[in-house]
Amino acid sequence: MTRVTIRVRDNGPLLIEGPIEIVDAEGRPFPVDPNKPACALCRCGHSQKKPFCDGSHKTCGFQSVERAPAPA
Ligand code: FES
Repeated sequence: MTRVTIRVRDNGPLLIEGPIEIVDAEGRPFPVDPNKPACALCRCGHSQKKPFCDGSHKTCGFQSVERAPAPA
């Protein structure tokens, strides 16, 4: 089984690494380039290419730096 990793980028998108399919609310798939190693999903809400990141987070002032809790 191939593991999928979702990386939360500081002040930016969710970067998904691994084989995935992204579908809309009706189950239709969004085209994803299978040759790209990762896919970036918008987290700021300002992308003109939702659900994908188009870089707008860099100019809209989006700030979010999340850290997972330290292991116990
Ligand atoms: S996170 Fe990049 S455009 Fe929204």
